Amino acid sequence: MSECAVICGLGTCLPERIVTNEDLAASLDTSDEWIRTRTGIHRRRMVAPGTSTSDLAVSAGQAALVSGGQIADFVLLATTTPDRPCPATAPEVAHRLGLDEVPAVDVAAVCSGFVYALGLAEALVRAGACHQPLVIGAEVYTSIIDPQDRNTAVIFGDGAGAMLLRRGHREEPGAIRAVELGSAGAGSGLITVAAGGSRIPGHAQEVPREQRYFRMEGPEVYRQAVVRMTSSTRSVLDRVGWSPSTVQAFIGHQANQRILNSVADRLGIDARYRFGNIAEVGNTAAASIPLALADAAASGRIRPGSRTVLTAFGGGLTWGSAAVTWPDVVPKCLPPESPPAFRSSRVDRQADAVPTDPAPR
Ligand code: COA
Repeated sequence: MSECAVICGLGTCLPERIVTNEDLAASLDTSDEWIRTRTGIHRRRMVAPGTSTSDLAVSAGQAALVSGGQIADFVLLATTTPDRPCPATAPEVAHRLGLDEVPAVDVAAVCSGFVYALGLAEALVRAGACHQPLVIGAEVYTSIIDPQDRNTAVIFGDGAGAMLLRRGHREEPGAIRAVELGSAGAGSGLITVAAGGSRIPGHAQEVPREQRYFRMEGPEVYRQAVVRMTSSTRSVLDRVGWSPSTVQAFIGHQANQRILNSVADRLGIDARYRFGNIAEVGNTAAASIPLALADAAASGRIRPGSRTVLTAFGGGLTWGSAAVTWPDVVPKCLPPESPPAFRSSRVDRQADAVPTDPAPR
C-alpha cells in the first residue's frame, strides 16, 4: 500500500467584525446590488486595528492541532500579507504554537498559496522529510487594500484556515491523492503590490499610491482564473482517474461566484456538490480554501470518503489543484489571538538565546 499525506485536522479563525456591502457603499461609489450580482459577496470579515496575519494564523493553526489531536513537525504558512517583509512570519507562528525549532517557512503564491503549501507539505511527507506538517493560509488583506479603490475594496476580506496532515496511505479517507501546480509569470503585472520589495523599496521617497496598494486587472484576471482553474482541475482529475461527474465536493478558491460557476459548469460538476462561502467571507486569498472546506465539513455537506477536488488561481500568475478523499474530521474554530506582548530587546536576547552545549566534563 503506497504511502501519502492524509488530512487529519482542520481549523479556522475569522475576525469578529462583519462589514456588509451597505457599509462599504457608505464611503465608496458602489452598491450592494452591484457587489452581490457581480461577485456573489454579501459581507466579509475585517480585523480590528493592530491584529496581524500571525494572530489569525496562530488561532487557525491551534484549532487544526486541536481538531487533529496531534502536534506538528513542520509549519508552512501561505500568505500574501506577512506581518513584515523580513523575517518570514511562519517561525513566529510556530513559536507561538509551542512548536519551537520545527522548520517553518512562508509560501508566497497569493490566492493559490494554500494549494501550493499543501502540495509542498504532501511532497515533504512522501519524501520522509517530516511526518505531520501544519499548512496554514492566513491573510489580513485589509492591510494592502486601497479603501478608495472600488475595483478591489469590495472583494477581499480577512481570515485564516489551517490543515494538519499526517503520514498515511492512499486508500484511507483523507488521503491527498494528487496535487498539480503551475505558473505563468508573463502575467505578473495583473495582480500586484508594486512597492515594498527590491524593485521599488518601501522606503523610496514619494512612492505613489498606485504602487503602495494592491492593484488588479479584474476582467483579465477573471478570464485567466476560469481557464486555469478549469484546466488544472481536469489534469488533477485525470491523474487520479476520476471523471468530473463522480466528484462529490468541488471547492474552488472563493474569488468570485461567477468565476466558480463558470469553472464548475465547464467541468460538468453537479450543482449539489459545489461548496463555498464567498457570500459570507468574500475573497480571503490564501485562506479561502480551508475556510470554505471547514464550512462545508461543519455543516455535513462533505462526508468522510467524498471525492473532493480543490482548485485555486491567483497572482503570479499561479494556480493549483488537489484531489483528496475527505477525512473524518471535525473542524474547530478559534477567535484571533491577541498580539504578543511587547518584548524588549533585552528580554528578546534572553528568550531567543541559542541553547549552548553542556560544558564538557
Ligand atoms: N461598484 C460599482 N461599479 C463598479 C465596481 C464597484 N465596486 N467595480 C467596477 N465597477 C464598474 C466599472 O467601473 C465598470 O464600469 P464602466 O462599464 O462604466 O466602465 C463596470 O463596473 C464593469 O467593470 P468590470 O471590471 O468590467 O466588471 P467585472 O464584471 O469584470 O467585475 C470584478 C469586476 C473585479 C468583480 C471581476 O473582474 C473579478 O472578479 N475579477 C477577478 C477577481 C479575482 O478573482 N481576484 C483575485 C485573484 S484570483
